[in-house]
Amino acid sequence: MLKEKGLSKIGQEMAEYILSETQRLNELITTLLECARPRPPLFNLQDLHFILEHTVDLLQTQADAKHIRIAKRFNAGQAELFCDRDHMIQVFLNLIMNAIQHVQPGGYIELGTRRLTDTLEVLVQDNGVGITDTHKAKIFEPFFTKRQDGIGLGLTVVQQSVLAHHGQIYVTDSDYGGACFHVVLPIKPQG
Ligand SMILES: Nc1ncnc2c1ncn2[C@@H]1O[C@H](COP(=O)(O)OP(=O)(O)O)[C@@H](O)[C@H]1O
Ligand SMILES: [Mg+2]
Repeated sequence: MLKEKGLSKIGQEMAEYILSETQRLNELITTLLECARPRPPLFNLQDLHFILEHTVDLLQTQADAKHIRIAKRFNAGQAELFCDRDHMIQVFLNLIMNAIQHVQPGGYIELGTRRLTDTLEVLVQDNGVGITDTHKAKIFEPFFTKRQDGIGLGLTVVQQSVLAHHGQIYVTDSDYGGACFHVVLPIKPQG
């Protein structure tokens, strides 16, 4: 359009806007996607129960403000495994923050662990609105959000980190009426 001879002054201005704004949006999206792509994990022997305790501490004030109880049901006898501590904190921050956002004031969140044969499973459950089956298939996709001020990258980041740990993540309905996120992590370091 800019090369068109008879383009009006306003037309010229608009065409320049289109170019500069698409460039700006492109940069914005690139930045967002870079944020969503975590650095490769650095594996260290960590006690996942300590990591979970620490994450709950970070969110306690937010939970208290909404009178939400965060219960811990650590059923895994011990929870030592090879993982990236920072990544794991981010994973459980995102999951618990989502739970805080989706329960009513006075709601309930439960953080559980259990030991399976070669894996450790962490369950983040709540008694909030829950997730429909249609949405269950979509929530991990980038930019999927149902929140007014949401961005839809929280669960994408969570999934990427869990996969980089050779783990699995999926969501089911919680016994308490809301959502139940399952994070399954291998105990032994993976090649
Ligand atoms: N605990 C939960 N209960 C109900 N819905 C949830 C829960 N966690 C996530 N969701 C749904 O998944 C969507 C995507 O979550 P997320 O990737 O964290 O992005 P955002 O928080 O920016 O919306 C949310 O908008 C919500 O619809
Ligand atoms: Mg979120």
